[in-house]
Amino acid sequence: MKQLIYLFTITAVLFASCNTDSQKGKTAETFQPIETNVSARPAGQKHVVGLTSPKMDTVRVGFIGLGMRGPSAVQRFTHIPGAKIVALCDLHPDRVEKSQQILDKAGVPRAAAYSGSEDAWKELCQRDDIDLVYIATDWKRHAQMMIYAMEQGKHVACEVPAAMTMEEIWDVVNTAERTQKHCMQLENCVYDFFELTTLNMAQQGVLGDILYAEGAYIHQLEDFWDSYENDWRMEYNKTHRGDIYATHGMGPACQVLDIHRGDKMNYLVAMDSKPVSIPAYLKEKRGEEAPDFKNGQHTMTMIRTENGKTIHIQHDVASPRPYSRMYQVQGTNGFANKYPNEGYALKADAVEAGTVPNHENLSAHSYVSDEVKKVLMDKYKHPIHIELEETAKKVGGHGGMDFIMDYRLVYCLQNGLPLDMDVYDLAEWCSLAPLTALSLENNSAPVAVPDFTRGHWNDVKGFRHAFVN
Ligand SMILES: NC(=O)c1ccc[n+]([C@@H]2O[C@H](COP(=O)([O-])OP(=O)(O)OC[C@H]3O[C@@H](n4cnc5c(N)ncnc54)[C@H](O)[C@@H]3O)[C@@H](O)[C@H]2O)c1
Repeated sequence: MKQLIYLFTITAVLFASCNTDSQKGKTAETFQPIETNVSARPAGQKHVVGLTSPKMDTVRVGFIGLGMRGPSAVQRFTHIPGAKIVALCDLHPDRVEKSQQILDKAGVPRAAAYSGSEDAWKELCQRDDIDLVYIATDWKRHAQMMIYAMEQGKHVACEVPAAMTMEEIWDVVNTAERTQKHCMQLENCVYDFFELTTLNMAQQGVLGDILYAEGAYIHQLEDFWDSYENDWRMEYNKTHRGDIYATHGMGPACQVLDIHRGDKMNYLVAMDSKPVSIPAYLKEKRGEEAPDFKNGQHTMTMIRTENGKTIHIQHDVASPRPYSRMYQVQGTNGFANKYPNEGYALKADAVEAGTVPNHENLSAHSYVSDEVKKVLMDKYKHPIHIELEETAKKVGGHGGMDFIMDYRLVYCLQNGLPLDMDVYDLAEWCSLAPLTALSLENNSAPVAVPDFTRGHWNDVKGFRHAFVN
């Protein structure tokens, strides 16, 4: 009997120690996310959550970068009441001239022209008759241009992604805080019709507590690779691993999850498949071997937030497949999905009886009928779309969302309102490029997402667009 008790005790001790060891292997201590440097906010510098600037009747704009993307912005601005195009800049004079012709066609005065040198844009930024510098150059030039423009006392708006490294991101945040200037990333996808309607439904509580959001940039770029100035986009893909174009997926996902308006991203993990299609393209089309090509064929990132929510982001500019930004939102009462077919699935009690036809048939096991979807989309049409949809569709730009983005930027500046997207959105959405690279280089280890607001992520409760009352 004594022997049996002894055996039992030994087994129990061994089991307990084994158990502790295996649990120990999974303690928070072992799996602390990799941290990047976060310096304290420099003395005398103030956060810019909710930043406003004095109202202005006319928003005077200077454009830098008139390649494939820039001229369409110039064209859109000719349709925005209260916007005045003052200056245009590109390395190439013929590109500036093409944009002048857009102004001619719109019947507005020609703008001051800057070109011919790498630094001509600095003279544009130094003008004292410009309020806003609008940047649509390649990724590597964005941060220095934004910083210089803010230092010259200008608000800035910059194409996506507006900053590529942690150093650039922090420099941009610090400059915006030091100068107290607006610094907005031109993320157009947050204004698309399905996304904004879904955001409104979520904000009205129809989908319940939102627990998961998904987004992506899936767009095979074979038709475009040869069109970028000096091959900048291919060069960036050749030399960088990670999700280097994350903002189209991140924007709508972060807005619906109130990131830095009551929640914050804590850490991410990333995984990619090996690069195959672009190296093959380089060999076939350019006769070029690319054994060290860095950017993965398909990159996936998962993010966990302070409030226990999750985000899934994907990047794939290589694979032969249909365009998709994935966009899914999952709440406790319902689900929204944009690609390949837009649809909603709702629990029966998500909306009141009488709100939609055949209310008794609602079940989250299947998508609502087209008839119900139409009723929902009309009922929850966002006030921004109610005001702008018709004009936006006429002016165009990715179906109208680009015009809405520019219009909102000018509207908020004119009325002294906080912009829809602030410098912390820019920082959070852009941080995926350097942080996913760090995760991938460490076997998909968790990487901490810094709080770019440095303590102010919970000051505002819930993301909302600002309007004049
Ligand atoms: N939001 C969207 O849907 C969307 C769509 C397309 C492109 N973009 C973004 O727009 C930006 C521009 O892309 P693109 O396709 O027009 O590239 P692009 O290569 O066609 O154009 C870049 C332009 O910048 C100019 N430029 C470069 N250095 C300059 C300098 N020092 N001074 C003045 N001009 C300079 C080039 O001459 C060129 O005309 C990128 O950030 C891209 O990711 C966004």
